[in-house]
Formats: sequence, structure tokens, C-alpha cells
Amino acid sequence: MIVCCSLADFQQALASLPKDCELGFVPTMGALHKGHISLVQNALKYTPNVAVSIFVNPTQFNNPSDLASYPRTVEADCRRLAEAGATIVFVPSVEDIYPEADTRVFDLGGLDKTGEGPRRPGHFNGVAQVVTRLFDIVKPKYAFFGEKDFQQLAIIRYFTKKLGYPVEIIACPTLREPDGLAMSSRNTLLTPEHRAIAPSIYKVLKNAQQGAAQNLQLIVNGKNAETTPSELVQIAIGEIEKEPLLKTEYVEIVNSLNLQIINKWDDAQDIQMCTAVYAGNVRLIDNIKLK
Ligand code: PAF
Repeated sequence: MIVCCSLADFQQALASLPKDCELGFVPTMGALHKGHISLVQNALKYTPNVAVSIFVNPTQFNNPSDLASYPRTVEADCRRLAEAGATIVFVPSVEDIYPEADTRVFDLGGLDKTGEGPRRPGHFNGVAQVVTRLFDIVKPKYAFFGEKDFQQLAIIRYFTKKLGYPVEIIACPTLREPDGLAMSSRNTLLTPEHRAIAPSIYKVLKNAQQGAAQNLQLIVNGKNAETTPSELVQIAIGEIEKEPLLKTEYVEIVNSLNLQIINKWDDAQDIQMCTAVYAGNVRLIDNIKLK
């Protein structure tokens, strides 16, 4: 595995690959866990040539203390990537990615109007800035993103297509700890007390999935639903907040395609429940398919 700590080194490493190689690309912000490694493993099913970037992108952080506290573990990350079979690791500097301030404002198709969008102003524009910049540099055939960041995935699909990048976006399933907590680099920041309680977020999502399934079955049988999507949201918030150590930022039930909040179960073909919850100072997100 080649580790490149500058743009020039990375471009040289790319040039050493066969001309017609179909590059797989896994962009990351480092602090890698099994979820990231599974993205690399997925990528290796598509192509033997897999590039991974490690770059904590400042433009997607709307909160400076979140950027400052983001875990950075580059050496351990590189060891794990070598074991996983990655071909090239790209660890650029901020100047490599942003030789000058990036002032581009992206059309995100309104997919940033719910969920993380209003709560993290500028976040998805920052993601679009770094991902397009990385696509321009890496020129991958495939790029791999986790479904844990459900809204990010939808937005990346949108601008990749809209801007005509010839990159196939591949969604990879969320990996979970044995107790159900979605794997995230932020989990390492949890205190033992918050870590112990954090799996209840997924339990609440599973309960909601069951609740939605019962309502959808009633509708299939020609009956009325007993609980509306917004009532199910209130139930979920109530269940999360039974845990004094957790604070819900939002729970939303959205159309999986346009991410608009739905009011009725038959408002959309595919439905997702998405949430952000604070466990102490650590903000955790998760989501589950309801329909
Ligand atoms: O999901 C992430 O880790 C980041 O948002 C990404 C896609 C690597 C862009 O910085």
C-alpha cells in the first residue's frame, strides 16, 4: 500500500497504476472503524485498485469545537487500511484540497431542507465541496459511502449526477456494534455512561420500524392506520428521552427519495426514519428503513 501525504505524491502514485484501471474510492475523515473497513472490503469486490482518502474537511464543520475534537488517528488508520488491502492512501493537507478558499455554492436539490440540513447550516455544501474536489483529483470509477449517513448519501448521489461526474455511487450498509449502536468515529468520544446508554437509539428505531409495519399492514388490509407518522415520531422521542443521558435533536420520518417529511403512510413508496441524538456532548445520528 502506498501512503501519500501530498497531492503531488498522490498524483504520482495514480500515474503508476495501469491506465485502464477502474479505481474504487473510499473518502473518509479518518478515525477508521470496522464500518470504514467494510467500505474498503466492498470496494475490493468491484476492483482490485482502491484509493482511500483521510481528510478532516474543515468546510463541513459548522461548529469549530466539533472540528477541533474530531478524532485523528492517521497512523493506526494506515495500518488498518494496509491489512484491509487498500492500494493507495491519500492524506492531503488543507492547502492540497483548498489552494484557495472554496466559495462554491451547490444545488443540493432541496435534499438539505430536512434532517441534518437545517441543524448544521453549510454542512452539506462543505461535503459537496470536498467530495467534488476529491472526485476531480482521484477520478474514480466507483465511490463508496455508508448508509449510516443516509442524507449525505442521497445528496452525494444527487450532485454527482447533476454535475455529470462519471462516478458510480455505491451505498454500503451500516455496521453496528453487537449491542446495536451504529459504528461511528464519534463513538470513541463517548463517556462509559453515555456509551452504555447509546444503543437505546437503535432500539427506539427498531420499535418504530415495528410500529410502522403494523400500520402498513392495516392499510394493506383496507383499514385505517392507528398511528400517523408524526405520532410515531412523538412516541420515538418519548422513548429516547426516557433515558436522562440522551437528548433528541430531531426524529423525522421522510420520503427516502426526496427526504421530505411525510404526513401519511401512503405519501411515499420508500420511507426512512432519521434521528440525531446527543449523548452528553457527542452527537450521534442513525436511521432505519420503515417502508
Ligand atoms: O462521511 C464522511 O466521512 C465525510 O462526510 C466525507 C464523505 C468523507 C466527506 O468529508
